[in-house]
Amino acid sequence: MNQTLQNDLLIKAALSQKTERPPVWMMRQAGRFMPEYWEIKNKYSFLEMCKTPEIAADVTMLPVDLLGIDAAILFSDILVTAEAMGGDLSFEQGVGPRFSNPIRSKADAENLAVDCLDKLQYVADAIRVIQQRLDGSIPLIGFAGAPFTILSYLVEGGSSKDFKRTKLLLNNEPQLAHYILQKIADVTIQYLNMQIDAGVNAVQLFDSWAIALSWNDYRDFSHYYNKYILANIKRSVPVISFCKGSSVFARMMAEANPDVISVDWNADLKNIKQALPAGIAVQGNLDPFVLYADKRVITEKIHQLFERMRDQNGFIFNLGHGIMPDIPFDNVKHAIEVVKEFRY
Ligand code: CP3
Repeated sequence: MNQTLQNDLLIKAALSQKTERPPVWMMRQAGRFMPEYWEIKNKYSFLEMCKTPEIAADVTMLPVDLLGIDAAILFSDILVTAEAMGGDLSFEQGVGPRFSNPIRSKADAENLAVDCLDKLQYVADAIRVIQQRLDGSIPLIGFAGAPFTILSYLVEGGSSKDFKRTKLLLNNEPQLAHYILQKIADVTIQYLNMQIDAGVNAVQLFDSWAIALSWNDYRDFSHYYNKYILANIKRSVPVISFCKGSSVFARMMAEANPDVISVDWNADLKNIKQALPAGIAVQGNLDPFVLYADKRVITEKIHQLFERMRDQNGFIFNLGHGIMPDIPFDNVKHAIEVVKEFRY
């Protein structure tokens, strides 16, 4: 499939091959910072958008058509696996994701389904529609949430500032935490393999909230399951491993054998790259808040990053985390143009 891509910069960089410039895409590139997203969002709920393949494809294509990025990412959410397992998920305006039936007991954990891929078929359908629309122009990235991050939403019942209940579970009932994490990991393997079979060109594992964990807890409750997932999915496409906390955890993340590590904005990207085994590419790591600044500043900060990465193969330009909803669209477009004009 990759041979037929007209623009395979992302795949090449992910495999640490030479490219004439870094490929660019941005986490949350299809979202609320785009007026065209709101035109669709005003008509449907977020979950309706995810679950209707034609609509998911329309939204996936927005940044392809309006921003000219080098890779599309499937329009969906990491929490759809938790919903398929039995979580009663809703997204409320201004509140974010909510589970009305959070996991608070062993019985709740036992009720989580593992054999639930049929509930996620709409994602495979969306991938097929998107690939028809992309028609080999650029790669499509599929994704899933990592077990620890998904666990945190299931246990907290939604977003959390301090992950108090999740950490209480890890500390007081580690066995129960492992039981749930194993179930999520098994669903995630099936789910990513389904996406790969449906035709995605790369996958990204999102462990957004690993940053909340200590070194030992990251190793036991997060890294262990991510490694298990990466060892058990089809490795026919490049795998990108993202976490907030990768500035600290990158070398441990490398032991899970991803093709790419996506780095938050705290680290110097070159230092991280040089500390990793050869053949592991890096993705990142502009502070998304830079995109609020004047265009001159945006250009400068991107060029600073490029100066550090100039002699490195295996570099994908991205943000250290997702685009915020109130970032000016023009600034995002400008940043992408700056990357596309650069040559090594
Ligand atoms: O990147 C993309 O453009 C692809 C689509 C995508 C979404 N969510 C769309 C979305 C992806 C890859 C995600 C991943 C995701 N979802 C993560 C991991 C990445 C990260 O940002 O750390 C997490 C933690 C979630 C859970 C989630 N989904 C939250 C916390 C929220 C609320 C965010 C907020 O700021 O209110 C969502 C909702 C969500 N996911 C939206 C979008 C476009 C907003 C939905 C809306 O229009 O209201």
